[in-house]
Amino acid sequence: MATLAEEIQRRRTFAIISHPDAGKTTLTEKLLLFGGAIHIAGAVKSNKIKKTATSDWMEIEKQRGISVATSVMGFNYGDYKINILDTPGHQDFAEDTYRTLTAVDSVIIVVDVAKGVEQQTRRLMEVCRMRNTPVIIFVNKLDREGRDPFEILDELEAELKISVRPLSWPINIGAKFKGVYNIYEHSLDLFTPNKQKVSERVEIDNVNDPRIDEAVGSADAKKLRDDLELIEGVYPEFNVEDYRAGLVAPVFFGSALNTFGVKELLDCFVEIAPAPKPVDAEERRVEPAEEQFSGFVFKIHANMDPNHRSCIAFVKVCSGKFERNAPYRHIRSGKTLRFAAPTAFMAQKKSIVDEAFPGDIVGIPDTGTFKIGDTLTQGEILHYKGLPSFSPEMFKYIENTDPMKSKQLEKGIQQLMDEGVAQLFTNQFNGRKIIGTVGQLQFEVIQYRLLHEYGAQCRWEPISLYKACWIESENPEALAAFKKRKHQFMATDREGRDVFLADSGYVLTMARQDFPEINFHFSSEF
Ligand code: G4P
Repeated sequence: MATLAEEIQRRRTFAIISHPDAGKTTLTEKLLLFGGAIHIAGAVKSNKIKKTATSDWMEIEKQRGISVATSVMGFNYGDYKINILDTPGHQDFAEDTYRTLTAVDSVIIVVDVAKGVEQQTRRLMEVCRMRNTPVIIFVNKLDREGRDPFEILDELEAELKISVRPLSWPINIGAKFKGVYNIYEHSLDLFTPNKQKVSERVEIDNVNDPRIDEAVGSADAKKLRDDLELIEGVYPEFNVEDYRAGLVAPVFFGSALNTFGVKELLDCFVEIAPAPKPVDAEERRVEPAEEQFSGFVFKIHANMDPNHRSCIAFVKVCSGKFERNAPYRHIRSGKTLRFAAPTAFMAQKKSIVDEAFPGDIVGIPDTGTFKIGDTLTQGEILHYKGLPSFSPEMFKYIENTDPMKSKQLEKGIQQLMDEGVAQLFTNQFNGRKIIGTVGQLQFEVIQYRLLHEYGAQCRWEPISLYKACWIESENPEALAAFKKRKHQFMATDREGRDVFLADSGYVLTMARQDFPEINFHFSSEF
């Protein structure tokens, strides 16, 4: 039987992130095919949240409900146990993705070769940077016309603010795409446009091997050699430690749809990606190999069916061994809980698990016990630090439209916020409640769920805000003066922290100028 340390060392827990349409679903599916977790392409796709241009959010929620099945995908690959944490495809649910990033040890970013770095990728990368999460970049759709790979590398560095290091290199792109040279392994893979077949590998000794000329023609072989020489000149030697520290991102090129470059990515990934790392609790740093179990809830998935008001709380195991039916302490309530039916997804099958190790995710059926960020331990008082709140993109006042149901509305809002659906701010001046989200869809979801799950009716009223800024200062008098001057725009977040609601970028600039001693932050952790 493997020891705890061995179980930890063989685990790789990560998320694939991208802007919608770059190829995340396709890549996930191909990784699962290699892991033998599925046998046909298209299996994941059918569960995917469609990117409807019209906000058909009921449809999206329905699919999101189904996608709970693909929330965590575990499979074995060689000696490794891989856990892929799925993130929602629709950009309005980016907040879910932020939280998922608290539970992973590394990330693969998919970028479309024609589109380069897009908005959502940029935002998600900010979260990775805050946490020094190691990232590998997969430049996808090389079978289509796209941009020059050197230009893509420059853009990745500039836009994602991280050093990059190509570990594979394409020979042409689009219609003339011939394959990739694997810099990491010094091998050549030839491209055959076929959606299922794994690419053909040409055995070569090094980049000067004449077999390259035979395979791709001497003009392209020369171009490849020139490119590689340039790469060696410009980019420092790849260093695994720099990657693990989040300082440099290795880059691979391929085509997920054609299963091309995917196995190379996976083979390198399992080798270099970090095993579960120590996790910081407020009290101390916790090592995964500690004997005592501990973990935290990073995501709660509600059932949209009003007849089944149950949720699944997703717990990331941080240390020790999680065991079914063992007594664990729920730190926030102080209660001892036992879980009779914890589940995990292995090879696409959901089943009850008896044990889980650091890096694994267990799903626990829940009827309102858990909040995002809750810690479970074998007794020790630990509070894992969650992800900070980020300033929402959209804000609205929420108003009660049925005075008889104000209790229900209160409760509904509170529970939905516990689940992390959106953020609540209370205006300190007039007591009005403001809901902040990352997208329009969430307002519709909240309104629908309040009505169907809590019997409460609400209406949205417009408020024009630019950002929510968490404020602090070393000078309490300056802080008090600021709050007094801006009292109409001061709000309190759910943790009781002061938040300044800036109604325009200009107002914020002026506030910074007028109150140089106040620090303004777009996230709650600083
Ligand atoms: P996402 O999860 O990041 O949103 O992207 P997804 O995998 O769904 O891919 C988006 C579209 O890009 C899909 O086409 C998919 O088939 C296509 N795609 C993914 N990888 C490649 C690639 O390497 N080359 C090319 N040419 N296309 C790729 P779709 O038309 O939206 O979906 P479908 O109807 O083809 O399934």
